[in-house]
Amino acid sequence: MSVLIRQGRIVTAADDYVADLFIENETITQIGEHLEIEADEIIEARGKLVFPGGVDPHVHLDLPVGAVVSSDDYESGTRAAACGGTTTVMDFPTQERGRSLFEALELWHEKARQKACVDYAFHMIVCDMPPERETELRKVVEEGIPSFKLFTAYPDRLYVDDGTLYRVMRNAGELGAVVMMHAENGIVIDEIVRQACAEGHRDPRWHALTRPAIMEAEAVHRCVAIAQVARAVLYVVHISCAAALEPLRAARDRGQLVFGETCPQYLLLDHTAYEKPGFEGAKWVMTPPLRSKHDQTELWKALRMGDIQTVGTDHCPFMMCDKERGLENFTKIPNGAPGIENRMALLFHAGVRSGALSLNRFVQVTSTNAAKIFGLFPKKGTIAVGSDADVVIFNPEREETISVSNPRTHHMRVDYNTYEGMRVQGIPETVLLRGRIIVRNGEFVGKPGYGRFLKRRSYEEPVI
Ligand code: URP
Ligand code: ZN
Ligand code: ZN
Repeated sequence: MSVLIRQGRIVTAADDYVADLFIENETITQIGEHLEIEADEIIEARGKLVFPGGVDPHVHLDLPVGAVVSSDDYESGTRAAACGGTTTVMDFPTQERGRSLFEALELWHEKARQKACVDYAFHMIVCDMPPERETELRKVVEEGIPSFKLFTAYPDRLYVDDGTLYRVMRNAGELGAVVMMHAENGIVIDEIVRQACAEGHRDPRWHALTRPAIMEAEAVHRCVAIAQVARAVLYVVHISCAAALEPLRAARDRGQLVFGETCPQYLLLDHTAYEKPGFEGAKWVMTPPLRSKHDQTELWKALRMGDIQTVGTDHCPFMMCDKERGLENFTKIPNGAPGIENRMALLFHAGVRSGALSLNRFVQVTSTNAAKIFGLFPKKGTIAVGSDADVVIFNPEREETISVSNPRTHHMRVDYNTYEGMRVQGIPETVLLRGRIIVRNGEFVGKPGYGRFLKRRSYEEPVI
């Protein structure tokens, strides 16, 4: 199978030029000004942007949370990702306390096999690691999973103490694995929550009121310090506020290998969403919560100037009937919101169109940087001879209103959209995964099971 993409404007992390792109089987094999070449399929891309397939470093598919499960499984979630221009997703097998990491790993392979419509990789969530089981960490890395995720939040489920944090980080440092942190001081937050409940507060906005930004910043500071001593590469997930940027910047200024991720919801939405009438605020109950306009401004600045390197979605959707478990008590609302499908369009519209991000920076934060940090570059994250032919043909002019009821912007299996009613200009139209067209003019034409598990390389310095 061969595909010729003609006269698109190819944009990578560094380049921007009009050319023809020739794909044979799964790989980009030629790029030239005008390729005189036969192909099984020719796509005219004049006037369109041609980006490397999006890499979303942070999604939760088919994730059990208490009595409920995030509503997108591998099939529906990765179909939606494809429609939004994302061709690689990274998910999180989640260890159960006291159990082997490999139980979780096998379970997640089972969830994804035969179902994934785009390529996928894993980060391993570690919530318990006694010294006698440390060898498991090496084995996980050997399985192509050189990243561990740890939580200083959620004391009842995923929280690890500082000793465990240090132990896993030290191992990670030796193994060339990246340590991803959900950084919030969960112990203090739980106390604040207890107090709010005792005072009779029940509605969704209390989720945000009980999780102060400074408790995120404190945890980032602590993780940065422990990672420095442990000599681990640190990646802080879903940074939501200005205060959390300070320890990150200070660490990078010292020369410490620390990376930051934010998400479209923190760039585009704010805490006033929780003021909506009735139970509607539950749609945005996620952790960390939405913050202030000032935080948004600072996150955009950090993204533009390089203090934040990636934009992941933290896609973790729940149907409203599941959210309603918390009708009488905000602490029972499952945390998380959908977003896997809308990331590229939102970032293009709010970032590139507004002038906040250059086109090259857009590609860096939506694709290249995650591929580099997590050991997938240059197979993923760029358009170059020899790279996987993961390509997004993007129409910069087409407008859509993002809505749960718009079949062109919502394929996710969830009954609301986080960005309901937002008008965006710039939409992925045609998407190729390893040379196969999986989205044609906005319509999904791929196949569950074509997505492949990606074994990743350990961290190589310096990546970005
Ligand atoms: O609320 C969120 N973010 N849910 C998903 C799990 C996590 O904390 O990343
Ligand atoms: Zn998290
Ligand atoms: Zn998450």
